[in-house]
Amino acid sequence: MTTGTDPELLSLCGLDDGWLDRRVFWDQAVYELELERIFARCWLFVAHESQLPKPGSFLTTWMGEDNVLVVRRRDGSIGAYLNSCPHRGNRVCTAEAGTARGFVCNYHGWSFGLDGTLNGVHESAAYGREPTFDQARLGLTPVARLDTYKGLVFATFDPDAPPLRDYLGEFTYYLDVMLDNDAGGTEFAGGSIKSVLGCNWKIAAENFAGDALHAGWTHASGAEAMIGRGVAELGADDADSYHVNAHGHCWEFNLDGVGNAATLGDKRIMNYLRENQERVAERLGELRARMVGSISSVNVFPNFSFLPGQNTFRTWQPKGPHRTELHTWVLVNRNAPPEVKDAWRKGAMMTFSPSGVFEMDDGENWELATRSNQGVVTRRQRLYYGLGSDTAIDHPELPGNVHRGQINDANQRAFYRRWSQLLRAATWDDLEKTR
Ligand code: FES
Ligand code: FE
Repeated sequence: MTTGTDPELLSLCGLDDGWLDRRVFWDQAVYELELERIFARCWLFVAHESQLPKPGSFLTTWMGEDNVLVVRRRDGSIGAYLNSCPHRGNRVCTAEAGTARGFVCNYHGWSFGLDGTLNGVHESAAYGREPTFDQARLGLTPVARLDTYKGLVFATFDPDAPPLRDYLGEFTYYLDVMLDNDAGGTEFAGGSIKSVLGCNWKIAAENFAGDALHAGWTHASGAEAMIGRGVAELGADDADSYHVNAHGHCWEFNLDGVGNAATLGDKRIMNYLRENQERVAERLGELRARMVGSISSVNVFPNFSFLPGQNTFRTWQPKGPHRTELHTWVLVNRNAPPEVKDAWRKGAMMTFSPSGVFEMDDGENWELATRSNQGVVTRRQRLYYGLGSDTAIDHPELPGNVHRGQINDANQRAFYRRWSQLLRAATWDDLEKTR
C-alpha cells in the first residue's frame, strides 16, 4: 500500500505555525510512510571505514527496517547488500561484524562472494539440470549507491537520490570540525554498544539536532553527581552560541572551545585539545578551531547523530513508531595518543551508554514523551516548536541557515521541515521545488 498520497495523513505531517501534531510520534501509517519516503530514499550512515580495515571485513546494520550487509571487497572497495537470501529470504549473515571469505546461507546452503554474487549452491547437480536457473541473476541485492565522506560510509536505496556531496551540501563545512581537524583523519575506537529505547526515533534525532534547552535541567543532577557542578549555563542570546542547519542536517554549538570540553573535563583530553588548537586553526580557521571540543550536538538527517566533545556517534534505528534501537560508537583522531583515545572511549561510556549518567536521563524522558501519546485525548493535542522564531541571522563565516543562541527550536523546526518535505515529495525534483 502506498500511503504517500493520503491527503489526510499528510495533513498531520508538518509544522503549523510552530505546532506539530502528536500523532506523528504514534501513528503506524505515518511510520510506514517514513520508511518509504525517508529511509528508503535518503543517504544513511552505515559504517566508518575503520570498521572495514581489510578485504573480507564486514558488518551488518540497518537502513530503515532493511538489514544490510556492508563488506570490504577484494579490490578494496566497499559494497552494501540487502542481507536477505534471494532463495527464501533467510538472513544470510547473522553476525554483527567480522572477517569472512564469503557468506553461506544457513537455510539451503547458497553461498555468496564478497561482491554479493551467488558463488555456489548446495546440491548443485539438481540446480544444474534446471534450465531456468540463472546463477548470475541470483546475487544479493546491492544498495543503489554507496559513497564516503572523510571516513564515513553512507548508502542509499534510491538511484535518483542526489550525490552524497549534494545531500550533505554546505553542512560539510561543519562536519569537517569532527572529521578533518587532523591530517591523520579519524577512526572508531574499538567496540560498539546497542540498546533499545521505547521511543519514537524522531524524538531522539530532534534532541540531538539542537535541544540545548534540556541539558541544564535534565542533566543537572547527573552532572552534579559526576563533576560536582551543573551543566554550564546557556544563554538565549549568547553572542557565541548558534543553531545552524542545511538540508535538514543540524548542529548547535557555542564557541567556548576547549575551555568547555566535554567528557567531564578529562585532563588528557583537555590537554590534547589545547595542544592542538593552533594546528587546527591553521587547518580549519579560527572559528572552527573554537568548535573542536566545545559542547555541541548534531544530527545528520535523518537518524545519524553525534556529540562533538563527547565524541559519541550513534544511529537511531527505527523499530516501529514506539521503539528505537540505538547503536553507539566513539570517534577519535587516528593519530591521537593511545591514552587520549582510551580516555575518550571510557568517558563516552560513563556518560552516553545505556548505563551512562546522561543517557539514562534522556531515555526516560523520550520514552514518556512517546508513551503519553497512547492516550487518545492526549494524542489530539499539539506540541510547540516555536521558541526563538526571530533568531535568524546572516553570519559572515557560517554557511547554511544560522540562528543566534542555543536556547531555541530553530534546528528542530529545520528537522521537521525537511522530514515533512520528504514525506510529501514523490521525487527528489519535487523536493527541490519545495525548498
Ligand atoms: Fe537461503 Fe534457501 S533461503 S539458501
Ligand atoms: Fe541529553
